[in-house]
Amino acid sequence: MQPFDQSPVPVSDDVELDQTLRPRRFKDFVGQERVVANLEVSIRAAKERQEALDHVLFSGLPGLGKTTLAHLVAAELGVGVKATSGPVLDRAGDLAGVLTNLKHGEVLFVDEIHRLGPKVEEYLYSAMEDFCIDIVIDQGPNARSVRLPLEPFTLVGATTREGLLTRPLRERFGILEKLDRYPPGDLELILARSAKILGLDLAPGTTGEIARRSRGTPRVANRFLRRVRDVSQIAGEKRVYPALTIEAMEMLGVDERGLQATDRKILETLVRNGGGPVGLKTLGIAAGEEPDTIEEVYEPFLMQEGFLQRTPRGRVATEAAFELVRKISGDSRP
Ligand SMILES: Nc1ncnc2c1ncn2[C@@H]1O[C@H](COP(=O)(O)OP(=O)(O)O)[C@@H](O)[C@H]1O
Ligand SMILES: [Mg+2]
Repeated sequence: MQPFDQSPVPVSDDVELDQTLRPRRFKDFVGQERVVANLEVSIRAAKERQEALDHVLFSGLPGLGKTTLAHLVAAELGVGVKATSGPVLDRAGDLAGVLTNLKHGEVLFVDEIHRLGPKVEEYLYSAMEDFCIDIVIDQGPNARSVRLPLEPFTLVGATTREGLLTRPLRERFGILEKLDRYPPGDLELILARSAKILGLDLAPGTTGEIARRSRGTPRVANRFLRRVRDVSQIAGEKRVYPALTIEAMEMLGVDERGLQATDRKILETLVRNGGGPVGLKTLGIAAGEEPDTIEEVYEPFLMQEGFLQRTPRGRVATEAAFELVRKISGDSRP
């Protein structure tokens, strides 16, 4: 049983939490020091020149802070931001509307930019490079192309799948930054900040217990914090203690290294099939998740933790996975 979605992909009630806890300035953004330092330099230089900042591409797993950084870039530049996403911008006309409304130096944030349609993407090329777009007006024999100049703007793209970006699009970004998982210490700082915003009193050791199980992902850490808050509240505790935190995590089916029900289903499926290779589709069906989600969210973590390997013929279980599955089935035996 899975009481609620625990993947790092945002679910409905995350949107609000994400908003509340989202850092508003660089100084509140924890970790990713190199990325932030690079951005600060470029932003300062662009401001001094009174030019639009180069186009920026953020890539990284879900929940690592791409959307947060996109908004921070605009805030630090002191300009407005218009946000949209690849799947939403499905007609070239939509994009033209958005682009022609941008003011000098503003930020256009395109989330999931790897999912732009080819037509829309082609429009973006000239917009990004020359700050103009060619639109076709009228139809039939009267059809003609008109060149519309745009104000210089900054495109900030975010993607969980940098490899799916076409080369011409990728090459038009001047600043490419990849976000990595956060070390536990950074997650603890993020949790402490979130607790303060939520008015939560955390006993020493609490943030460590949550951070350790959060897969290096701020969104996961914040979500766990909220669940722990619920459990504490029901237990009638004003203060959140490590013991109760561990209990809450167990209730959620999260083990001490952050493995969750879906991870275990994936590993069990591999092991049941002699360790693999098993195709992504089969794993998706067994785990009740989209193959894309398995590939983008679960697999990278399982690979990093040494449980799973990718081969040309499919996914295979490692010895550590066999051991874990043996342990799980041993534990649940009566
Ligand atoms: N470096 C960070 N410092 C503090 N909070 C962060 C940081 N990165 C992400 N968060 C938090 O995690 C949540 C998810 O971040 P988000 O930017 O939406 O991730 P992404 O767009 O990469 O999926 C946000 O609510 C934000 O509060
Ligand atoms: Mg996002």
